Amino acid sequence: MLEEALSFHAESKEQLEAFKSRFLGKKGVLTELFAQMKTVGAEDRKEFGQKVNAIKQAAEEKISHYVAVFENSESNTVSDTDLSLPGQFYPLGSMHPVSKVRRQILEIFSRIGFTIAEGPEIEDDWHNFSALNFPPEHPARDMQDTFFMEGEGQFALRTHTSSVQVRIMENGKPPIRITAPGRVYRNEAISARAHCLFHQVEGLYIDKNVSFADLKQTLLYFAKEMFGADTKIRLRPSYFPFTEPSAEMDVSCNICSGKGCNICKGTGWLEIMGCGMVDPQVLTNCGIDPQHYSGYAFGMGVERITMLKYSIKDLRLFFENDIKFLEQFR
Ligand code: DAH
Repeated sequence: MLEEALSFHAESKEQLEAFKSRFLGKKGVLTELFAQMKTVGAEDRKEFGQKVNAIKQAAEEKISHYVAVFENSESNTVSDTDLSLPGQFYPLGSMHPVSKVRRQILEIFSRIGFTIAEGPEIEDDWHNFSALNFPPEHPARDMQDTFFMEGEGQFALRTHTSSVQVRIMENGKPPIRITAPGRVYRNEAISARAHCLFHQVEGLYIDKNVSFADLKQTLLYFAKEMFGADTKIRLRPSYFPFTEPSAEMDVSCNICSGKGCNICKGTGWLEIMGCGMVDPQVLTNCGIDPQHYSGYAFGMGVERITMLKYSIKDLRLFFENDIKFLEQFR
């Protein structure tokens, strides 16, 4: 009997079950042997008992061995995954550098109370030009080559986000403090420095007693946050029809720290935006009384700032969506 238990070999669960009930079942071999124990004479009882226990132990060991074997083989058939294979990696996307910088610009201004406004990309003549002091036939209109809508003489793709200034002033009351991000369009030949589609962020602040000094401090704060604490700014007199006085703002070149390099063309300065005090006529056009209110405005190109920040030399890279370029901006 001991031999039988020791040499048992199960091919299947059924065989194991049969073995189990043959040895350990209620009417099994061991129950029988334990019952026989009483009939064995006292002198042989010890030896008999030891034999029976050895059979019991052998049977139990076989059973637990095969239970484990069948359990493992079962889980192996359910899944044939090779756990030693390396994982599959899916490349993660990253934010477009222009989106990243646009968000950063908006975030910097939001910290000093500027909210975000938006306007339509298809704009009428009034909001894109006339209200901003570009009279019809005025040569200043040629500053920005415009895509006009076919057959709709007065509608065009907006050439700048300054159109949003007009909409905000017409519909709201001072104090006004907004930034306006968005796409703008110009009918220009595509090159390393120009594109027919690009992005701007506009800023507008209208309140009582707003001065040029407020503009300068706000822009200095922005430049330091954007390009680093050592950044200097300079304002050069310029002309825009909707601001008086008008200026262009340069930041000290963060590549050569102002010494002069090929990015700043040896000047040590990089132009990043136009700005000025909102022309009183523009306030009037938008229903705000220039006797009581004054304000400043500024507008910057997001691609340009991104190029300066990351030393990118060709604007077209932003629109090609080459993964090798984009994945550098994680
Ligand atoms: N709209 C101008 C452009 O696209 C930029 C600009 C200049 C915006 C001066 C302003 C400003 O708000 O005050 O060239």
